[in-house]
Amino acid sequence: MATTRRTIRVLMLPWLAHGHICPLLELAKKLSQRNFHIFLCSSPVNLSSIKIPLEYCSTIEPVELHVPPLPDLPPRYHTTRGLPPHLMSTLRMAFDMAGPNLSVIIDDCKPDLVIFDYLLRWAPEVARSRGIPAVGFSTGAAGMNSYIFHFIKRPDDEYPFKELSLKDYWIAKYRNQMKQAPTYCMGATEKIVRCNDQSAGLIFMKGIRELEGKYIDYLRDLSGKKVVLVGPLVEEPVQEDGNHIIEWLDQKERSSTIFISFGTEYFLTEKEREEIAFGLELSNVNFIWVVKFSVVENIKLEEALPEGFLERVRDRGLVIEGWAPQTRVLAHPSVGGFVSHCGWSSVMESMKFGVPIIAMPMHLDQPFNARLVEDFGVGLEVMRNESGKLEREEIAEVIKAVVVEEGGEGVRKKVKEVSVGIRNKGDEEIDEVEDALVKLCVV
Ligand SMILES: *[C@@H]1O[C@H](CO)[C@@H](O)[C@H](O)[C@H]1NC(C)=O
Ligand SMILES: *[C@@H]1O[C@H](CO)[C@@H](O)[C@H](O)[C@H]1NC(C)=O
Ligand SMILES: *[C@@H]1O[C@H](CO)[C@@H](O)[C@H](O)[C@H]1NC(C)=O
Repeated sequence: MATTRRTIRVLMLPWLAHGHICPLLELAKKLSQRNFHIFLCSSPVNLSSIKIPLEYCSTIEPVELHVPPLPDLPPRYHTTRGLPPHLMSTLRMAFDMAGPNLSVIIDDCKPDLVIFDYLLRWAPEVARSRGIPAVGFSTGAAGMNSYIFHFIKRPDDEYPFKELSLKDYWIAKYRNQMKQAPTYCMGATEKIVRCNDQSAGLIFMKGIRELEGKYIDYLRDLSGKKVVLVGPLVEEPVQEDGNHIIEWLDQKERSSTIFISFGTEYFLTEKEREEIAFGLELSNVNFIWVVKFSVVENIKLEEALPEGFLERVRDRGLVIEGWAPQTRVLAHPSVGGFVSHCGWSSVMESMKFGVPIIAMPMHLDQPFNARLVEDFGVGLEVMRNESGKLEREEIAEVIKAVVVEEGGEGVRKKVKEVSVGIRNKGDEEIDEVEDALVKLCVV
């Protein structure tokens, strides 16, 4: 039944990280085809690098959120991209201080509702003070969220899904962080639960029901909110001619090559780079490896790799500094594996393009996501040694298992099935998102 309704105005407020902005931008594109007008609110430095495609220019409006410049944190650092890790908590603090400016923006744009990232605890309060509903958007996995909620809401019970149990070295690492910055760590988990409590009756979550069903249901029980899945929200690869990475891939055989990237925020240590480089050599598999350094590291790529590495691997491997068009690479038929830190966006991209994962989590929620990847049967995790370090032999073993050996057949098949499922589903999830938003605006 075709009904005409007035345009609903939505203010989107992502956290300043690639994996948080991209999915909201994708959601913005989908909603803007359905009579929604979107205000995408972020720091000026971030907005300056987001290209809103021409066809969306009249329906997605960038809005600058001014974050106060702190002494260590000039405006060009108002993004997690390339941010030196020690400034991450300063950035969070600065962003937390931007609340008053959000109310100015709300008064200016007059949105009907706000969709806010779970990391922005103050957003729902500001929205409420302006008389509009706010819905939380979690860019993390339902598995991870259910784990956090469990420990805050049912601290005396055991978490029901043993599949997510972490190895001792991760637990030791988290404990250590907790010791060093207890208020920061507690703050982060409590923020998530508080954001949830303030979300208007439901929460949006990036994910795939076929994979995460049991975690989603448990999270609904714990949070008391309806969980509305928004799908994987992966950007369609942009086709353009003359990209040397794609041309290089064109020369390789089907499913013969792995892609290695640890996201926009994690910087490998020298030792990790070394183990990975030797692991790649030992695996004998073709590879594209994205290596990057934070803005304060002053390192030349050749010096960062083991001596003679590039000569030894020659045309079997391509090392890229900085950034590669990840979705285009993953969508390429020559790619047969993704060595990933398991940031949730990367996992979603791998699912969408049917690429099995060699999981190499580094920090944050990644160790949990790596467990999920194994639990779903779409990848294998590279285990660390007793001291929690990566080892070249194990890296090579897991790469070979996932990409070439017979034992990895099940994983390769499963991820292809998931990918087909996503394609067949089309925009089913967005229908549900649209319904939910319309309902919120009517009452
Ligand atoms: C801003 O966000 C977009 C989308 O996540 C990202 O691609 C871009 O790198 C970011 N730019 C900066 C300067 O942070
Ligand atoms: C609010 O925005 C203005 C610029 O519009 C900026 O000068 C000010 O520092 C911002 N205040 C906060 C608390 O972010
Ligand atoms: C763990 O691996 C690292 C290499 O990353 C190695 O230097 C260290 O000796 C190993 N530790 C143990 C206990 O095996």
